[in-house]
Amino acid sequence: MKRLAVLTSGGDCSGMNATLRAVVRAGLASGIEIVGIQKGFQGLIDRQYEIMTTRSVSNVLQRGGTFLQSARCKEMQSEAGLQLAIETLKGLGATGLIVIGGDGSLKGAHAIHQQGLPVIGIPASIDNDIPFTDMALGVDTALNNIIKAVDNLKDTASSHDRAFVVETMGRGCGYLAVVATIASGAEYSLIPEEPYDLELICSDLRRRFREGRSNSIIMVAEGAGKAQDIADQIKDRIGFETRIVVLGHYQRGGSPSVFDRLLGARFGQAAVENLLKGNHGKMVGLRASEIVLTDLAKVVAAGSRPIDPMLPLLASQLSV
Ligand code: F6P
Repeated sequence: MKRLAVLTSGGDCSGMNATLRAVVRAGLASGIEIVGIQKGFQGLIDRQYEIMTTRSVSNVLQRGGTFLQSARCKEMQSEAGLQLAIETLKGLGATGLIVIGGDGSLKGAHAIHQQGLPVIGIPASIDNDIPFTDMALGVDTALNNIIKAVDNLKDTASSHDRAFVVETMGRGCGYLAVVATIASGAEYSLIPEEPYDLELICSDLRRRFREGRSNSIIMVAEGAGKAQDIADQIKDRIGFETRIVVLGHYQRGGSPSVFDRLLGARFGQAAVENLLKGNHGKMVGLRASEIVLTDLAKVVAAGSRPIDPMLPLLASQLSV
């Protein structure tokens, strides 16, 4: 029987389990055995794996995180680590590998592909900074987590005429902060892609409170600043007691949204199907509701996906 290996790598996100379930069940339906590698590339180096059955993926669809566990693996960046990973795959008799993860993980996938092993990458990162896909896995659930938090904060903020600075994740990408601003009706979004003027924000905050607005929410992407620094600067400039919430890893967990469950199902099935067809060295992606393939080499060379400039524009137009 043919064997494919699958692993989840880098920061976990909701929808990884749904994707694993799709890989295992689509594989078994095509008569392919699936080996689950534990703890990402580290598991390939340390030979930690399990043979998956249809029951291995029962009852996982609704769970966040990844039951195979994940890791950020420095060793994979060395030639020795890469060769150990290849040896494990060969030893397992795996004729292909599916890597579910973010930009660093896709680099690892590409490195293995360059050694002649068939690989398909699946983009998974709440940051939504992976090029050649409109959405990565986990983004939609993370956004739902963020707006749920902001909705709650608005209740308490408006009971006290308060401003809140809410810090989102996203590494160097402001996608989560700006989309959450639009979707939650927050007032300001500070993102690394665009300069911001705290002086202007402060005078606008004053105007809002003069007009009797009961709350103001300032979203800040972690790549654009620290919530506490921004709150301190607001206090120093205009004396407002501004509270902060750093959402941190709360954003990454939780039961996946319908969107992420469906995306995981489609990505997982497409990864297996394309490996079996001999289309490898590719990343699956979503483009205007179609599943598309892009060469891993092109994905890795492109760097981070830029955010659509319409998003910050829309965020500022709608928050007056
Ligand atoms: O890339 C996903 C992400 O959640 C980033 O938004 C964040 O900066 C980083 O991972 C946090 O990494 P860790 O889980 O290793 O603390």
